[in-house]
Amino acid sequence: MTEKPANAMWGGRFAMSPAEIMQEINASIGFDKALAPQDIRGSKAHAEMLAEAGIITKSDAREIVKGLDKIKAEIDAGTFEFSRALEDVHMNVESRLKDMIGAAAGRLHTARSRNDQVATDFRLFVRDAIDGIDTALEGVQRALVEKAEKHAGTVMPGFTHLQPAQPVTFGHHLLAYVEMISRDRGRFADARKRLNESPLGSAALAGTSFPIDREKTAEALGFDRPMANSLDGVSDRDFAMETLAAATITAVHFSRLAEEIVIWMTPQFGFVKLSDRFTTGSSIMPQKRNPDAAELARAKVGRIAAAFQGLVIVMKGLPLAYSKDMQEDKETAFDALSSLRLVMAAMAGMIADLEPNAEAMRAAAGRGYSTATDLADWLVRELKMPFRDAHHVTGSIVKVAETKGIDLEALSLEEMQKVEPRITKAVFSVLSVENSVKSRTSYGGTAPQNVVKMARQWLRRLEKGRGKV
Ligand code: ARG
Repeated sequence: MTEKPANAMWGGRFAMSPAEIMQEINASIGFDKALAPQDIRGSKAHAEMLAEAGIITKSDAREIVKGLDKIKAEIDAGTFEFSRALEDVHMNVESRLKDMIGAAAGRLHTARSRNDQVATDFRLFVRDAIDGIDTALEGVQRALVEKAEKHAGTVMPGFTHLQPAQPVTFGHHLLAYVEMISRDRGRFADARKRLNESPLGSAALAGTSFPIDREKTAEALGFDRPMANSLDGVSDRDFAMETLAAATITAVHFSRLAEEIVIWMTPQFGFVKLSDRFTTGSSIMPQKRNPDAAELARAKVGRIAAAFQGLVIVMKGLPLAYSKDMQEDKETAFDALSSLRLVMAAMAGMIADLEPNAEAMRAAAGRGYSTATDLADWLVRELKMPFRDAHHVTGSIVKVAETKGIDLEALSLEEMQKVEPRITKAVFSVLSVENSVKSRTSYGGTAPQNVVKMARQWLRRLEKGRGKV
């Protein structure tokens, strides 16, 4: 049996080809081909710098850049043939370049290693992803704010322990998510700031003896500066961990909103309606309208959090500098980032699509004695009762209503006076859910006038690009 030749890119001292299983476990081309655009950007910047520093000739650099552009076009057109024998995207591209332009291709890898190459490509990829995520999150914020402004006065039950607590407005509830997303965007922006240094020129791990210009490549690739330590340059994956941590927190937020949509959509709640665009039917139960998109948005946090945890575990205890373990950084990160993209798009669509049922929300807001706190506050304000006593009196009044099976509002004045004789008919003004929410005017409270103000403030902030903290 004749042996296949060793890998042409590094096989100089190898007499035999890798075992089939070696190739299979070693190859990353199946997923890292997603880095091709970034790989080509990085290689072009490197080639141009090499020529300007006099390390390769200008004409070789021109050939290289032209060839790389052609390869990019082949990849975009889907005609590029990726080969597993060539392991990864870096060697696939370089090998194709050699087919195209011959000897000059071999000069591209001067003063560079796949270690700083992959670190650069992955950083560029994650940076591109962060930019896309930020735009998408802004879109979700906009959808939420627009709906919130429209429903600033729509009363719904507010819950704690998923038990009716106090009435709130739907607009206020939606704006809570706008705040969360502003922090999410801030976290991605922070990660981007620390990510934005160039590892290119760290070479294998120790730097290089060639007179390279790292400032130049950093600038060409939109990085703020070169990384200051070559060992750190090739071995750092903080940027990916940090981005995945931010993605996980964002996905947690979306899973909470998705869960609420699922609950709100049940016939038992009937708070919102999603159109046919975001629901599915059942193949056996004709009456069903299932919130599949919300359920999937609720579930995607699983794979996103797993990607974060997975990378943390891969990196834990790795000695400096590069180890092949680090090839395991990409596949799940790609999946997590594209999953988040999907979640954000589905959520933006669902938020714009969903219509609250104001009647059902208002009716539910009045159940469960949700204005009991308002009654207690009235006793404190009007009768100068200490809050603890007022809490006790209110508890007794709620018990009377409960025994009769009626709302607080429906109790007669006499019935309340049996518990506390000083109560007057003025108390009825605080027992309706509308008056309850109207009275919550403290900063950050749920009063419709606050919500309108906040929603308008948010619209202005978003217009000015100040939607993150
Ligand atoms: N495919 C590799 C990765 O993703 C590229 C770096 C390979 N470096 C090496 N020294 N074998 O990590």
